[in-house]
Amino acid sequence: MKDEIYYGRIKYLSFVLLDFLLLLTSNYLAFQVYIFQYKPENEYTLNKHIFVVIIMAVIDFFITAVFNTLERVLRRRKKKELYEGIKHVGYSYITLAVILFLFRKSTDYSRLTITLAYLIYFVLFIGVHIIWKYILKKFIQKPARKTVLLMTMDGFLNEGIQRLQEQDFDVRYIYLLKNSKADIVEGIPVIKKWERAASAICWDLIDRVYIYGLDHKMVPQYMINACREMGLKFNLVDFTYRIINIKTIGHDDPGFGILSTLEEKRDIPFSIRRVYWITETEAEFHRGYHAHKLNCQLLFCPYGVIDLILDDGTTRNTVTLDRPDKGLLLMPGIWREMVWKKSGSVLCVLASGYYDPKEYIRNYDEFLEYSRKYRAGSDKVNLNKSS
Ligand code: TYD
Repeated sequence: MKDEIYYGRIKYLSFVLLDFLLLLTSNYLAFQVYIFQYKPENEYTLNKHIFVVIIMAVIDFFITAVFNTLERVLRRRKKKELYEGIKHVGYSYITLAVILFLFRKSTDYSRLTITLAYLIYFVLFIGVHIIWKYILKKFIQKPARKTVLLMTMDGFLNEGIQRLQEQDFDVRYIYLLKNSKADIVEGIPVIKKWERAASAICWDLIDRVYIYGLDHKMVPQYMINACREMGLKFNLVDFTYRIINIKTIGHDDPGFGILSTLEEKRDIPFSIRRVYWITETEAEFHRGYHAHKLNCQLLFCPYGVIDLILDDGTTRNTVTLDRPDKGLLLMPGIWREMVWKKSGSVLCVLASGYYDPKEYIRNYDEFLEYSRKYRAGSDKVNLNKSS
């Protein structure tokens, strides 16, 4: 909490106060130019100007609060900062012009002084903010460990925390795909709204965002935007496949059958775009022999026995699907071969993407090459949602 105040709110406050100081300074300078030009006998007096400055300050706070124009100044790149500066000064100038035009006599303000004040303010806004940012970065010591926001699903949470802690990351916040009722898990607060997660990023409380066991397309666009604007890295913790338990409801009467259920985003860490199933197969029949570049899939066998030989490019393992309550979550980049162990066994697949032959790898050598590159850069995620 102490860190949070230190690295978030205090920084933000310092920018708001700095902003106010710049507004006063630029007005002081603009009024001096006015006096120098027109001499004091002119009807526009300091008192009238001070009144205009008070209105300006109120507008400035209003614009900051409503449009959040200062919120992201800390890590924005230079072009973005310039754009933010123009937006902030532009909104303030237009609002002031409208208010003065509607509610004040033209002798109560000097258009020249106000315009000049805003011009000076804009130059100071850009210049001083850059210097202040530099000073903050130089003199405020960040914790040695990188702070992380972890996005995952209930079932993978402890594993995800452990994997990140092993890499010496400080997991500061958790976002769960299936929102758990808990507010805190292992002493780490659970963020329930994306807006909160995006604002933790914008307030510079997070160094990295990590995804564990989710399709990265699950991340909302404004979260991606917040990361982009703050120049934050978006990372994947390597996750190949998992066997998951499918919720199954039996009945005392054995002839009544059993019912199994899967819910998108609650049990399945991706949006389901496609469902297919394979039936009428002979025993010892082999299929598959491919990997996917993008598709996440959940495979299950409601009837029969099917072996899945899984290969991540270095090791091969076999998973047997032989019960309706057993599911196999497969992330992209895994070579699979299916072997039907019993004729008539049914394989059902839920996939995160539409059928696209271009996202298949059907040549094993090509797969090995792809896998090598994919694993080497597995912590870099393409943020393009259409991918
Ligand atoms: P294929 O992926 O080769 O099956 P497997 O790997 O299980 O042996 O698919 C067989 C054929 O079905 C192939 O021509 C592509 C087509 N197909 C679709 O049109 N849509 C789909 O969603 C899938 C999975 C396959």
